[in-house]
Amino acid sequence: MKFFADTAEIDAIKELAETGLLDGVTTNPSLIAKSGRDFMEVTKEICGLTDGPVSAEVVALDHPTMMKEAEVLRKIADNVCIKVPLTMEGLKTCKALSGEGTMVNVTLCFSATQALLAAKAGATFVSPFVGRHDDNGTDGMDLIRDIRLIYDNYAFETEILVASVRHVTHVLESARIGADVMTAPPKVIHALVRHVLTDKGIDGFMKDWGSTGQSIL
Ligand code: G3P
Repeated sequence: MKFFADTAEIDAIKELAETGLLDGVTTNPSLIAKSGRDFMEVTKEICGLTDGPVSAEVVALDHPTMMKEAEVLRKIADNVCIKVPLTMEGLKTCKALSGEGTMVNVTLCFSATQALLAAKAGATFVSPFVGRHDDNGTDGMDLIRDIRLIYDNYAFETEILVASVRHVTHVLESARIGADVMTAPPKVIHALVRHVLTDKGIDGFMKDWGSTGQSIL
């Protein structure tokens, strides 16, 4: 499963890139606003930190303007992936852009039938939002199971990009189901590393090593 960072914070992306865990980045208008940075400038900077896809979202709601925005965004770098909302206008834009060989991430997916439409429109990625489903009282991971089943039934190549990931269990379940990608805030990716028994084990080894009075260097 590929790991994308769901953030526009440069330092956090740099740190993850150094670990070799980072396969791409996703942003959205809220994350750009949170960064306080200029959209074009920060997106260009992020594209330089990873060879993987960097999702940059259009903000127009109509197809012709989405196309114009996509034209500007895809000039930023070769690894820009245009993010469009799961609306009829977004699907039209997805169809047009993917036909031209541009990567497209269809976002704000909340049902398996919406995901079916994204695949039929030629999306590179579909982004089902699991955390927001959970917030709404329904199990977001059931949606991922349904999409996996449908995509496998018809051998769709659209990658399932699990979004709105809030905790490590979302990541674990995504991997169990066989999602292609998950995008998570850096703090969730960091939480994947930690285990209380790892910390306890290190403490024990350090204590015992100290008692030997030896040093490696
Ligand atoms: O980028 C889309 C998605 O990951 C948003 O997550 O936490 O705002 O629901 P969240």
